[in-house]
Amino acid sequence: MRTYYCNEINESLVEQEVQVCGWVNKIRDHGGVIFIDLRDIKGLVQIVVNPDDPILFKIAESIRSEFIISATGLPRLRPPESENLKIDSGKVEIVSSKIKILSIAETPPFQFNDDVNEDNRLKYRVHDLKSEKMQKNLMLRSSVANLIRKFLQESEFLEMETPVLTKATPEGARDYLVPSRVNQGQFYALPQSPQLFKQMLMMSGYEKYYQIAKCFRDEDLRADRQPEFTQLDMEMSFVNEDKIINLIERLFVKIFKDILKIDISLPIYRITYSESMDRFGSDRPDLRIPFEIKNISSILGGCGFKVFSDPAGKAGSKVSALCIPSSAKLSRKDIDGYTDFAISKGSQGLAYIKCNDVNDLEKGLQSPIVKFLDTKIIKEILINVNAKNGDIIFFSAGKEDLVNTILGSLRNKIAEDKNLIEDSWKFVWITDFPMFEHDVETKKWKCLHHPFTMPKFNNKSDILNAPEKLLSHSYDLVLNGTELGGGSIRINNIDIQNSVFKVLGLDDQEIKSQFGFFLDAMKYGCPPHGGIAFGLDRIIMLMTKSNSIREVIAFPKTQTASCSLTGAPATISKTQISDLGLKHTNKDLKK
Ligand code: AMO
Ligand code: AMP
Repeated sequence: MRTYYCNEINESLVEQEVQVCGWVNKIRDHGGVIFIDLRDIKGLVQIVVNPDDPILFKIAESIRSEFIISATGLPRLRPPESENLKIDSGKVEIVSSKIKILSIAETPPFQFNDDVNEDNRLKYRVHDLKSEKMQKNLMLRSSVANLIRKFLQESEFLEMETPVLTKATPEGARDYLVPSRVNQGQFYALPQSPQLFKQMLMMSGYEKYYQIAKCFRDEDLRADRQPEFTQLDMEMSFVNEDKIINLIERLFVKIFKDILKIDISLPIYRITYSESMDRFGSDRPDLRIPFEIKNISSILGGCGFKVFSDPAGKAGSKVSALCIPSSAKLSRKDIDGYTDFAISKGSQGLAYIKCNDVNDLEKGLQSPIVKFLDTKIIKEILINVNAKNGDIIFFSAGKEDLVNTILGSLRNKIAEDKNLIEDSWKFVWITDFPMFEHDVETKKWKCLHHPFTMPKFNNKSDILNAPEKLLSHSYDLVLNGTELGGGSIRINNIDIQNSVFKVLGLDDQEIKSQFGFFLDAMKYGCPPHGGIAFGLDRIIMLMTKSNSIREVIAFPKTQTASCSLTGAPATISKTQISDLGLKHTNKDLKK
């Protein structure tokens, strides 16, 4: 049907017959001459319809926005004053000799612009996906997926699929369940990740595996979380952390260079989980923010001001400071607002020092706490946080977790409120996560990664005896404050695996029923192995500077995990319910 895409029509084709197909982006009647902006997947071209051919003109008059047409004609140069250099074909226009309407269209539900609310965009997603922004995002997504496949195939990875109707794979969320008709009363779980299958592929000797896999998690949704999302999932045998990290670094250098023309310098910065929590109050620090948290407990141990000296001297507690540069221009009202913010996060207060003149400790500092502190200590604090005139130092004292939460979220909030986030790409690896954390609600241990992560230990008995002390062979890759991916070296020994399950509170029977198949597989030999998985949606979200992963998924779900386009999830018929052997209480079921 077409001889050229719209963007390909240019000066070299003047006076040669061309045929283009696409959607009517805009149609204007300029007193006797009709101009049609035609759009296809590659761009736009202007079509001119002159009134001298009455049949053609009549067809053109009946055309509306979003009609799908094909147009044949001769390109000609536009007069210089009507060139449109914003589009590739902008120096020419096609004088049409034939137009065929391929599909009529009702008036579109909205124009493509940023003011359309998201509910409407998701309801009319088919129309929304026609916008230039969505098409660019999804084309970039396709390019990244292709690049990943090529890179990994060249590195001898095998692309392998794993089941979707399967047994639970614990990654910390609830499972989506599918009732079985054939085995009534039994359920499949949709995979939260291909974790167990990729490990079993390692046991089977497929040494390097990857998959661009759909994962399903029933959890609270956020801008960077969807109930079904896509992972780039990988696993390798006979490797250590460095080998995996190096491979991933090369992959990201290539993705950013080839697709965005951006150079990432290697090696990517690496810090441990504990350092990240102490310096940024978070395990996904945004390193574009040009200020960080300083632990100043060692200065304040014997300072006499109990709000500070008590936590400074107590294990598990600390005092930290966050020095906000003068460029933030914090007002009195800002300070009060941030104090309320800290209190809303569980703090008892938010002490501060406003540094009008750091060389005049008597009169140059405004603060509700300097009166409680020796000049010598104040001086040490100022030096330690590298305070300059005009800076404001905030302090948080108390339990480590709370101080991290308060100053970590304050750091992000102030940077965002005051526009202090640099426009750059800051990658960081976070390593050495604790193996377990204590869940205050269930009063049980849970894993920070997943239970198949290899703990770091001297003696196997440490796992059961001192789980709180264990770190793990794990690593997350963070970009600009978003966790892109995470992985670990895996347990390849049944005793260690059983000990980890025991710490999590599983008894022998539960281990057997949930993971018996996996442990049985391990009995026949399991190589040392490790891997990682990335949220592909998140990678694309950041690369396209979108503010939600919904902007890079063709048909995403809403915040309530539903699909506005299809109406899923939906009720099912009584027959389906009874076929599945389920009982229902919902009276609104379809017949
Ligand atoms: P993890 O649970 O950290 O690890 O997931 C890996 C990456 O997947 C992305 N991700 C999500 N993206 C969108 N919506 C969600 N609901 C969602 N949940 C996770 C994140 C995350 O970093 N099996 C392990 C990996 C491994 O150990 O190899 C796993 O799934 O970007
Ligand atoms: P107080 O002696 O309780 O009035 O506190 C003196 C100053 O310390 C006030 O500015 C409080 O906001 C602040 N403050 C109190 N508790 C904490 C805390 N845990 N961390 C940081 N600042 C605090």
